[in-house]
Amino acid sequence: MEPWPTTRSPCARSSLLVLLAVWWGGLAPVPATADRAPAPDVLTFRLAGDVQATRSLAEVTATKGGKALRVFEPYEEDFATFTAVPLNAVLDSVYGKTWRSRDEVLLTCRDGYQPSFPVSRLLAYDAWLAVGREDAERFSILKLERGERVRVDLSPIYLVWDNAADAELRAQGDYGWPYQLVGIDLIDARKRFPRMTPPSGSSTQVESGFEAFRMHCTRCHKMNGEGGGIGPELNWPTNPTDYRDVAWLRQWIDDPASLVAVARMPRLNVKLKERSTIIDDVIAYLSAMAKHKVDPSSRAGDGS
Ligand code: HEC
Repeated sequence: MEPWPTTRSPCARSSLLVLLAVWWGGLAPVPATADRAPAPDVLTFRLAGDVQATRSLAEVTATKGGKALRVFEPYEEDFATFTAVPLNAVLDSVYGKTWRSRDEVLLTCRDGYQPSFPVSRLLAYDAWLAVGREDAERFSILKLERGERVRVDLSPIYLVWDNAADAELRAQGDYGWPYQLVGIDLIDARKRFPRMTPPSGSSTQVESGFEAFRMHCTRCHKMNGEGGGIGPELNWPTNPTDYRDVAWLRQWIDDPASLVAVARMPRLNVKLKERSTIIDDVIAYLSAMAKHKVDPSSRAGDGS
């Protein structure tokens, strides 16, 4: 199972079904999805794997604060308007306010695909649960796949972000936009990413750096084999702190283009509060991990 939605789409396996529904210029009706089990119109909420509550689609839709939300839809690569309710309000109603001090949000899509992101992402940006589309007949998108438009069903729920006026969030593309959402779990990232976890007894700065790394870096980078594959692995067999000094790394994370004209890595969100502390924390985390290399091909998740 791929832990991160990077080059793959969330719920990528459903693209098999989607292939049946290739969009022919918007004219052809999409075949009935008789080959697919009916979508359970229920969202299941868990805490460390244990079911806490379920909510029907009607209950989710009735959440206070619902509205028509216009976002830049990253798979269609165009603006779209959804009927949506604020995710944080839904989480408040299920878990009380305590979810905010949890670690990682693990999502389950209808086909079993499970992307995740740190809880802090929900505090930094506004996430919404879309339950329908305001500007189209069907709750679906016409996703761009290798130059073709493919109709993708979003039901029962699509997690979207209020990115219309937020260039940084928009630059993150489809990271954290799973569709066909059926489950939300609050978990401990250490269990999910044992190889990415710093050794026990690490300083609070290293721990903060671990969280910042999950928030800003793992969608593109692997650490001991865990994470996304757009950028290079950052620990095995070499860690950038093995061959770069701190000043260089600070400048790289701050603004890669200031060092490499054609850098593909984006600069760390310039609007972040305490941005330079975050950069220091991430570098502290990288340095700690340099002494904690785990061969990704080894079986043990924890090399300590
Ligand atoms: C959108 C994808 C993306 C994100 C997000 C990202 N990187 Fe990168 N990173 C890359 C790519 C791609 C490269 C390879 C160099 C290039 O083409 O820019 C890279 C290279 C690097 C390097 C190697 C530089 C060298 O030449 O030694 C380091 C270190 C690094 N990234 C750290 C980070 C850290 C830390 C974060 C989070 C704060 C981060 N990256 C976020 C894509 C990303």
